[in-house]
Amino acid sequence: MRLFKNLKDWVDFRSQINGSLYIGFVPTMGSLHKGHISLIKRSTKENRYTVVSIFINPTQFDNKNDLKKYPSNIKNDLKILESIGVEYVILPTEKEMYKNGYNYRISEHSYSLQMEGLSREGHFEGVLTVVMKLLNIVQPHRTYFGEKDYQQFELIESMCKSFFMNINIISCKTIREKDGLAFSSRNLLL
Ligand code: PAF
Repeated sequence: MRLFKNLKDWVDFRSQINGSLYIGFVPTMGSLHKGHISLIKRSTKENRYTVVSIFINPTQFDNKNDLKKYPSNIKNDLKILESIGVEYVILPTEKEMYKNGYNYRISEHSYSLQMEGLSREGHFEGVLTVVMKLLNIVQPHRTYFGEKDYQQFELIESMCKSFFMNINIISCKTIREKDGLAFSSRNLLL
């Protein structure tokens, strides 16, 4: 498994990968659990290479306390990723991801303001912005999202269609604990 801590190194490396080899991408905020693992395993099955990003995206947190408390365990995440056969991991920094601050962003003016968007102001704007950046950086053929965050999946799928992005956006079934609770990194805070 190769680790990229610097986006420029990844971008140089990506440009050398044979264009006919399929790349699957799973963006994450780390603290990996069985839900992530099922997305990643699907990607490793369907693609020649799998790329996973770990980046706790500050712009999607409407509540600063929530961002501060968000669990992080990179060492353990890397162990998991190595054990399930991931080829490439990118660990961007906030400075690299938001070089111009948050001046440029992706906004959706209808569906993102409903349901979860009603109580989390700016959340989907942050998600769409970071996902657009990550997709441009990784340039995958396929990318995988959990059905657990279904509104997020639909918005990302529709953003990619709207911007004519040639990427297959794949949704995967929610993975649950025995008692029915969906696996989520935030469960560590319960
Ligand atoms: O679902 C998540 O973990 C995040 O919203 C995502 C897609 C990695 C963007 O930061």
